[in-house]
Amino acid sequence: MESSTTRVLLQLHNHRHHKITHHFNLSRELTRHFNCQINPLNTISNSVFKPISIINQPISSHKTLFPYSPSATKFQVRASSNSPATAAIPTTVTMVKAIRVHELGGAEVLKWEDVEVGEPKEGEIRVRNKAIGLNFIDIYFRKGVYKAPTMPFTPGMEAVGEVVAVGPGLTGRQVGDLVAYAGSPMGSYAEEQVLPANRVVPLPPSVDPITAASVMLKGMTVHYLVRRSFKVEAGHTVLVHAAAGGVGSLLCQWANALGATVIGTVSTKEKALQAIEDGCHHVIIYKEEDFVSRVKEITGGQGVEVVYDSVGKDTFQGSLDCLKLRGYMVLYGQSSGTVDHIPLSALAVKSLFITRPTLMHYTTTRDELLEAAGELFANIASGVLRVHVNHKFLLSQAAEAQTALENRQMTGSVVLIPDASL
Ligand SMILES: NC(=O)c1ccc[n+]([C@@H]2O[C@H](COP(=O)([O-])OP(=O)(O)OC[C@H]3O[C@@H](n4cnc5c(N)ncnc54)[C@H](OP(=O)(O)O)[C@@H]3O)[C@@H](O)[C@H]2O)c1
Repeated sequence: MESSTTRVLLQLHNHRHHKITHHFNLSRELTRHFNCQINPLNTISNSVFKPISIINQPISSHKTLFPYSPSATKFQVRASSNSPATAAIPTTVTMVKAIRVHELGGAEVLKWEDVEVGEPKEGEIRVRNKAIGLNFIDIYFRKGVYKAPTMPFTPGMEAVGEVVAVGPGLTGRQVGDLVAYAGSPMGSYAEEQVLPANRVVPLPPSVDPITAASVMLKGMTVHYLVRRSFKVEAGHTVLVHAAAGGVGSLLCQWANALGATVIGTVSTKEKALQAIEDGCHHVIIYKEEDFVSRVKEITGGQGVEVVYDSVGKDTFQGSLDCLKLRGYMVLYGQSSGTVDHIPLSALAVKSLFITRPTLMHYTTTRDELLEAAGELFANIASGVLRVHVNHKFLLSQAAEAQTALENRQMTGSVVLIPDASL
């Protein structure tokens, strides 16, 4: 380390997104001015070095890198003007905290790390997350049931945040906007993330950010489940598995509001109470009772028009047995494991329909996205949907949250709150 400056390595991306490394000196005056010290691990020493954070964020949210600087507000490192790298490159990259997965496995593979967030490019925005929804799909990606597009990766598929930067030439979004999103790209378990502007929706003032973050993915899923994959109408009888879960709770309420008779399955008496509160006319504790015989009993042997099955392996065959003639099997998840291959002849028995839908395919266009989010927000604002945010965790404790979800200990929605925002 030099006496009056700290020599550090800056990593940037040029306009073609190539990584450029650049050495420069951080003056002692600057560090004094901000009352901070560079973490020695991040200084250059005899050509063994690690990059420091390139910060334009509140230093207080980067305590690992700047452990002695709680009072500073903003800190921006600029590459020196005589550097050959500075002409065509952005001068700042933001470091934030995020959960990262470097290898597939149990909840212990979720690591709390510093990551770079680049500047938004054309058509993109950078968002500082206020709340992040936890979903079972996050567990599938962590375990490798679904394949993540990159490795390592940041999990998370729904959040609400404030726009902190907009890409060049972007109109219609501005810094300070509150926006919500669900689905691709993955990466919401982070203090900040860059998103395509056309994948976010503005958050209406009628819905608070934590509520919205907890239902964007789950609620838009329920929208397509009851309105599009199978259209629920008054007079239908529907069977909803895991009725007290995140999706299940909203699904029972929405189907009830559409005039259906709702039968829900849950694993415990406590969950049964919530399912009844959410509009289930009949609740079956499927750990204690045979749900197929109970459904037959409830429907006078007829069966149901549709089964919404997110449990998969353990319930799938029974779900088929619960359907009436020409009934619809909507298999939209596999919390208990993936379903074995079934012969088409299994459907011929009752001329059944089967679909294995995913939200992404029902929100492919901007219009579809706005319609789904619009109906969801309207139903929350009007009280048709009562959102149970029953569990909140710090983002850094995502592993604990996922473990509890995986162990069936949760009801309703679960949100992660970025540590620095508390
Ligand atoms: N296809 C799509 O577009 C889409 C979108 C969103 C979600 N999903 C799916 O919807 C399902 C629900 O997601 P969520 O985030 O709201 O989770 P969740 O329903 O809150 O949690 C999963 C629930 O599944 C039940 N379950 C039954 N067997 C289980 C087992 N062996 N291990 C763990 N849980 C088991 C548990 O309820 P009980 O204790 O009451 O049995 C548990 O609480 C997931 O399968 C998810 O993949 C699909």
